[in-house]
Amino acid sequence: MNPPSSTSSKESAPVSTQRFRRKTATEEPSPRDRDARSEATGRTVRLDDLHAYYGEQHAVKGVDLEFAPNRVTAIIGPSGCGKSTLVRCINRMHEEIPGAYATGRISLDDTDVYGDGVDVVSVRRVIGMVFQKPNPFPTMSIADNVAAGLKLSGVRGADVKERVERSLRGAGLWDEVKDRLDRPGMGLSGGQQQRLCIARTIAVEPEVILMDEPCSALDPVATLRVEELIEELKSRYTIVIVTHNMQQAGRVADSTAFMLSGDLVEFGPTQQIFTNPGDERTEQYVTGKFG
Ligand SMILES: Nc1ncnc2c1ncn2[C@@H]1O[C@H](COP(=O)(O)OP(=O)(O)OP(=O)(O)O)[C@@H](O)[C@H]1O
Ligand SMILES: [Mg+2]
Repeated sequence: MNPPSSTSSKESAPVSTQRFRRKTATEEPSPRDRDARSEATGRTVRLDDLHAYYGEQHAVKGVDLEFAPNRVTAIIGPSGCGKSTLVRCINRMHEEIPGAYATGRISLDDTDVYGDGVDVVSVRRVIGMVFQKPNPFPTMSIADNVAAGLKLSGVRGADVKERVERSLRGAGLWDEVKDRLDRPGMGLSGGQQQRLCIARTIAVEPEVILMDEPCSALDPVATLRVEELIEELKSRYTIVIVTHNMQQAGRVADSTAFMLSGDLVEFGPTQQIFTNPGDERTEQYVTGKFG
């Protein structure tokens, strides 16, 4: 990963892309594969000396961090400290902003996400993202919202239907929508829309799910439902969640990273970060003295 020219590179080469490629329609997983998949573990995401910039502005300043498979890691810190920037670097969305670039290394197991020839679209399929505000495709039905990414991956026909159902079940939404799959996704409640977006994300079978304040637009009941879902999903994925809600980090996260002004101040088991942090700034933040 280097400054502007190489991070915005769009070239792709089939060989190194291979590791990111998921199965396509013609290679639908056999039931055995699927069983293996449901038991499969997520992958380790590692940041080594990650710096992120918006032009001159230095938003993430040399972060080393490891996100473990089948664990939920929360990223906390005051507004503007670089949480969203950091997670957007992981699936290479940061570089889409004009003038923005990153340096350092991000790896998924032992594959360099920014490696020469790695296909950005494949990276984003393997590292899915759920945003703060539920963003269903406005003109699409519930089913089509979930199927959107699948169709782009070449999945067709009956397979699509089956994968839509599986994903909606996985997102804990199936029972609520199974009788109205052809109705607009926008007709769902906020919490249902967010679970729809999670269904859309898991439909393409990612390995890692990044969530940037996924509950901040939801009421407490919908928030709880999404948190339960996160707990279920972690058996299959590596999950990173940005949150401003300390209680939420305490409820869902195994590990917590505290950021301040672009620096990673402290990272450790959530319990420890909240009850016995090693850095005074962490303690001040988690006890509400600033931020
Ligand atoms: N598109 C952009 N162009 C220029 N600067 C940006 C852009 N997006 C974010 N920044 C700056 O980068 C820094 C980190 O922003 P970021 O959005 O990562 O913070 P955050 O921790 O996610 O904050 P919040 O909790 O408010 O969402 C901030 O100083 C912000 O102003
Ligand atoms: Mg943010």
